Amino acid sequence: MKKPRVYVTRQIAEEALDAIARDAELEVWPEPLPPPYAVVVERARDADGLLTLLTDRVDAALMDAAPGLKVVSNLAVGYDNIDVAEASRRAIAVGNTPGVLTATTADLAFALLMAAARRVVEADRYTRAKRWQTWGPQTLLGQDIHGATLGIVGLGRIGVEMARRARGFGMQILYCDSIRHSEEEERALGVEYVPELEALLSRADFVSLHVPLLPATRHLISTAELAAMKPSAVLVNTSRGPIVDQRALHEALASRQIFAAGIDVTEVEPIPADDPLLTLDNLVITPHIASASFDTRRKMALMAAENLLAGLRGEVPPNCVNPEVLGRA
Ligand code: DGY
Repeated sequence: MKKPRVYVTRQIAEEALDAIARDAELEVWPEPLPPPYAVVVERARDADGLLTLLTDRVDAALMDAAPGLKVVSNLAVGYDNIDVAEASRRAIAVGNTPGVLTATTADLAFALLMAAARRVVEADRYTRAKRWQTWGPQTLLGQDIHGATLGIVGLGRIGVEMARRARGFGMQILYCDSIRHSEEEERALGVEYVPELEALLSRADFVSLHVPLLPATRHLISTAELAAMKPSAVLVNTSRGPIVDQRALHEALASRQIFAAGIDVTEVEPIPADDPLLTLDNLVITPHIASASFDTRRKMALMAAENLLAGLRGEVPPNCVNPEVLGRA
């Protein structure tokens, strides 16, 4: 029997590629930078399955060009790069990689929180620039983390892990979300529900964003929201760049309306080299690496392979964002 054809848009863990190659005819984009959109469209033409990354746009035009496509397996928990409604209309299953990256992502969110609050990166630059001349009572002062109040926007899997870390630091934890957890869960986690975002922003010393990118969450944090935050507050974003209005963030940081920010994601990725945010000392920035541990990236690749192979067999992938497609083909 003819094997299904699969296109993988980047080199991923060997183990995952081997698993795919056992059941499918496999082609992998070999370069470190993503394939141009036109290349993915071209390769999708006769593909049964695609394994994509968050840097690949999978839209209606691409799906139109790929009449045999059964499954798109995204190597990420987020899938805003894929037009899921269009995929569902064509009975194409869309897979993602939830769960395996939760703790790793929360680790980096907490690292950014600490680095921004205690000016770790700025202090490193200061030391290397040979500016460390003495122990100074006023040198590089930052914000305390222990005992402070953390506001979590979006208490899903990653938000919950963030709360667990914050408890270890004796923080008071507030959250807002479109869905409230049960009182029992709130008690177990030690979190207080705050229905209004603005109220959370005005009470929190640290605000960490853990919502998916949707039309309703685009620029969720903009001028008014930043103005509601304390001047001593720190904003952390490890979710998606467009959730924060970056121009408004630049204003708020440059004018010291808020103390600092730690971000792993930006509105345009990679952030352009001349972006004014990069001139600010009170910004800590990393290049979308929240899930980047050896173990987690391996698990993500294996999960993406598993989703892909299930979709090729005509099954609903174990982690499928549109399971309703089964039976529509
Ligand atoms: C995701 O999975 O959505 C992250 O942004 C990358 O790990």
